Amino acid sequence: MSLVVRVPATTANLGPGFDVLGMALGLWNEIHVEPASSLQITVYGEGEKTLPRDERNLVYQAMRALAAEVGKPLPPVSLTMHNRIPLQSGLGSSAAAVVGGLLAASALLGISPGQEVLLRLAVKLEGHPDNVAPALLGGLVAVAMIEKTPLAMRVPLPPEMHVVVVLPDARVATEEARRALPTHVSFSDAVFNLSRAVLTVLALSRGDYQTLARVMVDRLHEPYRRSYIPGYTAAVAAGQEAGAVAVVISGSGPALAAFAPNDHERIADAMVAALAQAGVSARRWVLPVVEGANVTFPAR
Ligand code: HSE
Repeated sequence: MSLVVRVPATTANLGPGFDVLGMALGLWNEIHVEPASSLQITVYGEGEKTLPRDERNLVYQAMRALAAEVGKPLPPVSLTMHNRIPLQSGLGSSAAAVVGGLLAASALLGISPGQEVLLRLAVKLEGHPDNVAPALLGGLVAVAMIEKTPLAMRVPLPPEMHVVVVLPDARVATEEARRALPTHVSFSDAVFNLSRAVLTVLALSRGDYQTLARVMVDRLHEPYRRSYIPGYTAAVAAGQEAGAVAVVISGSGPALAAFAPNDHERIADAMVAALAQAGVSARRWVLPVVEGANVTFPAR
């Protein structure tokens, strides 16, 4: 049986929603799965020179975790990956690998473990929930860890929402970016973020960009991570000048996500131009908010 899994990029945190909010964006990784006599992994696109092509590969690790969970042996497969999500960019490339592997194994083994099991395994492999949850559920997702179990809910959004993503030419490992965070935060910063995270969800769900401009602000992680991102100040200023109501660090960066009701192309160009002027090359996308990962069975 051959099958194709498609998994979207994700932007986590959305400003004040550290480890809690995430959104699925229309930049897709594809995993083609075919029966084979032994494990074969081919990678095209992002990570084609660096990602492991043996059992250490994260997609394969996730496939193995799912098979172990349901107590079934995983048959040997050929995996061909077409990767569009840049690695260590803050756009959920590892979450996409994990979710892709879990869905690939479920389809291959002919089982439907259900979203709860998939999400629990995904969080276990990924370490934090706010990329894997939207990669799986799609759209805007709020997620909490209840004991060790993720509880995720999708928030309805207005149709046709788009997000500008600008990726300065740098890499930030999430682990490292998490080490930069303080171990304690003040009560006032906690309340600052709580209030704004709740209002960010409401503003996004209503497409209320005027409110978003006032509340998509963070004190828990961005102040500690900005310095990792080359050209950060120039890019944010240029984005805002071109019409973005908010520019936030996507996940742990270095990608930046800009929110605006319109003028997305202009905002993306302005941010890239500002980065170029600061001596930093960058890539940019205008991405729709999309549904979560899916599996198809192409006719042979
Ligand atoms: N919430 C996580 C962090 C997401 O900011 O560390 C990483 O993509």
